[in-house]
Amino acid sequence: MRWAFLGAGAVGGYFGSRLLMAGFDVMFVVRPGRLEQLHRHGLVVKSPLGDYAGHPPATTDPAQVQDADVIVVAVKAPHLAGALETLDRLPDVPILPLLNGIEHMDVLRSRYPGRVLGGVAHIEATLDETGAVIHPSRFARLTVGAVEPHHRPLAEALGEDLGRAGVDHRVTDDIYRALWEKYILLDVLSALTAATGLPIGRLLAEPATRLAAARLAEEVAAVARAAGVDLGDDAWPRVLAQLEAFPPTMLASMARDKAKGLPLETDHIQGGIIRAGERHGVPTPAHVAVYGVLAPYRAGAPLT
Ligand SMILES: NC(=O)c1ccc[n+]([C@@H]2O[C@H](COP(=O)([O-])OP(=O)(O)OC[C@H]3O[C@@H](n4cnc5c(N)ncnc54)[C@H](OP(=O)(O)O)[C@@H]3O)[C@@H](O)[C@H]2O)c1
Repeated sequence: MRWAFLGAGAVGGYFGSRLLMAGFDVMFVVRPGRLEQLHRHGLVVKSPLGDYAGHPPATTDPAQVQDADVIVVAVKAPHLAGALETLDRLPDVPILPLLNGIEHMDVLRSRYPGRVLGGVAHIEATLDETGAVIHPSRFARLTVGAVEPHHRPLAEALGEDLGRAGVDHRVTDDIYRALWEKYILLDVLSALTAATGLPIGRLLAEPATRLAAARLAEEVAAVARAAGVDLGDDAWPRVLAQLEAFPPTMLASMARDKAKGLPLETDHIQGGIIRAGERHGVPTPAHVAVYGVLAPYRAGAPLT
C-alpha cells in the first residue's frame, strides 16, 4: 500500500522508517523546518530494533501527493488545527490518526466523515537536536482498527503491511476501547509527572500522590463509560499495575516537554477529559485541579 505521513516526528518518523525499510511507498508531508532538516541530515532513526538512515520522499506541498491509500496523521494535538488545512489539500483517502487522547477523533470524523480509522501508538520515542528519532527501548507497537465497518478490510490490509515491515501490531474490532485504554494510562502518567517534574517511581511511593492518581484514573473511567466504553471496575488497579511495571525513572513526554519549555498536549489530554465530563454530566474535579496546574504551560514556557 502507498502510505502518506502527515508529520515526520518521533512517531511518524519511526513507523514510516519501518515501512520504508520493508520497501513500501512512503511519502512524508512536513513543514518547512522539518523539510530542511530532512534534506540536511536525512531521516535518521536510532533504535534497538534496527537503525534507519535515508532520504525518503518528503514535501511541504500536499499537491505533490497524488496518490496514497492511507494518510497517517502523526502531529501533536496543538498542531492538529494547522494539520487540518494540509489534510484538506491531500487526496480524499482514509485517514489513520496516531495522536493520544480522543478529541482528535471527533474533530477528524466531523470534518472527514466516513474516512477516519483509529490508531494507537505504543512507543516511547523522541527527536534529538538534529531531528533524529531516538527510540531507546524495544517497545514499539501499533494498534489499528476500523471505526466504520466498511474500513475493516483496510484495517486488515494495514496490519498486513505492518506485519511485513516487522512492526508489532494488532488489528482490533474495538478501536475506541484501545484508544481509551491508552488514554487512561497516559492521562495519569502525564498529569502527575508533568505537574511535579518527578518520575513515576517517586510519585507512587507517596500515598497522597497515589490517591491523586487513583482519582484521575477513576474520572477517566467514568467519562469513558459515559462515552460508551466500559473500562471495567478494575480500571485503576490495572493502571496502577502498568505504572508499577514502568522503570521507576519513567517520565511522560509531557514532563520532558514542560522541562524544555515546549508546548504541552495537556489541553487535549487532561482538558479533553474535563470537556467530555461536562458533555456527559460526569464531574472531574481531579482533572480540573491538575489541568489548572498545567494549563499555564500549554503553549510553552509561560512568561512570568
Ligand atoms: N513520542 C512518543 O513516544 C509517542 C508515543 C505514543 C503516542 N504519541 C502521540 O503521537 C503524536 C505525535 O507525537 P510525536 O512524539 O511524534 O511528536 P513530534 O516528535 O513533535 O512530531 C510531530 C511532528 O508533526 C509535525 N507537524 C506539526 N504540524 C504539522 C503540519 N501542519 N504539517 C506537517 N507536519 C506537522 C512537526 O513538525 P515541525 O518540525 O514542523 O514542528 C513534528 O515533526 C502525539 O499526539 C503524541 O501524543 C507519541
